[in-house]
Amino acid sequence: MTLPTLHHLLLLLLPPLINTRANIETFQALLSSKQLFTDLDDDDDPFHPWSSVCLCQSDITQLNSSFLALTCFPFVKCESYSLAHSSSSSPSGTVCQLRVSRNANMEKLQNGYLFPEIAMRQIVHMEKYPNAKIISLGIGDTTEPLPLLIASAMSKYSHQLSTKEGYQGYGAEQGNKELRNAIAATIYKDMGIKDTEVFISDGAQCDISRIQTGEYMRHSGKYGGIEYMKCGPENMFFPDFTGVLRTDIIFFCSPNNPTGHAASREQLEQLVEVATKNGSIIVYDSAYSDYISDDSPTSIYEIPGAKEVAIEISSFSKLAGFTGVRLGWTVVPHELSYSNGFPVHKDFDRIICTCFNGASNIAQRGGLACLSNEGREATKNLIGVYKENARVLTDTFASMGLEVYGGTNSPYVWVYFPGRKSWDVFTEILEKTHIITVPGTGFGPGGEGFIRVSSFNSTEYVREACHRLKNFLGRY
Ligand SMILES: *[C@@H]1O[C@H](CO)[C@@H](O)[C@H](O)[C@H]1NC(C)=O
Ligand SMILES: *[C@@H]1O[C@H](CO)[C@@H](O)[C@H](O)[C@H]1NC(C)=O
Ligand SMILES: *[C@@H]1O[C@H](CO)[C@@H](O)[C@H](O)[C@H]1NC(C)=O
Repeated sequence: MTLPTLHHLLLLLLPPLINTRANIETFQALLSSKQLFTDLDDDDDPFHPWSSVCLCQSDITQLNSSFLALTCFPFVKCESYSLAHSSSSSPSGTVCQLRVSRNANMEKLQNGYLFPEIAMRQIVHMEKYPNAKIISLGIGDTTEPLPLLIASAMSKYSHQLSTKEGYQGYGAEQGNKELRNAIAATIYKDMGIKDTEVFISDGAQCDISRIQTGEYMRHSGKYGGIEYMKCGPENMFFPDFTGVLRTDIIFFCSPNNPTGHAASREQLEQLVEVATKNGSIIVYDSAYSDYISDDSPTSIYEIPGAKEVAIEISSFSKLAGFTGVRLGWTVVPHELSYSNGFPVHKDFDRIICTCFNGASNIAQRGGLACLSNEGREATKNLIGVYKENARVLTDTFASMGLEVYGGTNSPYVWVYFPGRKSWDVFTEILEKTHIITVPGTGFGPGGEGFIRVSSFNSTEYVREACHRLKNFLGRY
């Protein structure tokens, strides 16, 4: 193999930046004048064990950040390069041939599908009807402004950061002690959760994804190694465990996304019993628990015995409109242990301390404000807007003669169209009303025949959407 020159390697790594002749020349000038590159292949730098090209620390300040972000990634195992290579002209057509193989687990995943597909159909629709006013009740993103007292707490704290006395650097990886304590005391009041069992995250997604994996099987449209349990109106949205193979993890989301069903106490008791008998860990996603209006449990830890078998993951996103602020938490009880008796808590702590440097201190200050008495009141009012939207949507679909689920303990309304395909219903609604929904099959094969309608939009848009649904979709 012909060795690529440094010049070509950099072209490959820096396409947006070093894309013109002038840029390359500037770059080469930088290289020779400032001795930017060094050979770190002596393996004594633990952070760049397999990088043979890296920026010298001392010269980093000379460069701008976009430049650094693109060059300093130590992810390439190439031959060593010397500065001499860069100044000699290279044979044309040589490219850097990486010797890095792709992580086999990444190959098992399917491309992101649902929301990109919806976005594409929306674009096609907009081209077809350029004057249509599309209303999106698709993706579950919050739309209402943050309560002032919560935004003020964050802004006050950010201002403090600009003072000598108020400045703070790294915080604890597990999160601010005060916030962990507030979560244990307010969200898990009377459930016996200790502050040390609460890990603050930057939203539920990262912790959930750390715990899930699988191989996508094209023929079945399912991931391998995962037992799918159908939850529909026929079983009160609670899985029938008989005949299901034992798994290490039972993933359970309540109030559920997408069905909007909040599991009852009896259902959750059954869930904990199954996990206890079979020695499985429940990963309980309670991100929508603040939407519960009846006496359904708001946490798995309301169920006796849950601390021995369950991790709970939750977030401020839907509780306080923090989808952009980013803040969540995970509870790993001390009682939860692996088959050899080793506490799961210790491994979780180890992972967090290695892979995470703690959530933003500004966001955590916002979280604390949410959990004050006034903050709880304000977030309750905020959620009230979406809950009222959900009620109006539920009534609308019901008045059209459709079976509607969710909506009372959840921001999602789950509508059944008997005998229809979800994507066909999605298309019909879009064509007739210019409203974006989400086809139920996007969440798994059990969602066929359903669509999910999100109440996360302004009251005005939701009312307009209901008006269109009644007038243009008609009765079923
Ligand atoms: C960053 O540095 C590169 C290379 O010196 C230069 O081409 C680019 O314009 C700079 N970008 C900014 C935003 O200053
Ligand atoms: C709310 O509806 C408007 C109008 O269609 C849209 O621009 C916006 O993206 C929607 N918000 C969400 C979260 O879907
Ligand atoms: C436990 O696992 C078995 C399969 O190993 C399964 O049949 C059973 O339904 C599971 N649940 C309970 C409560 O035993």
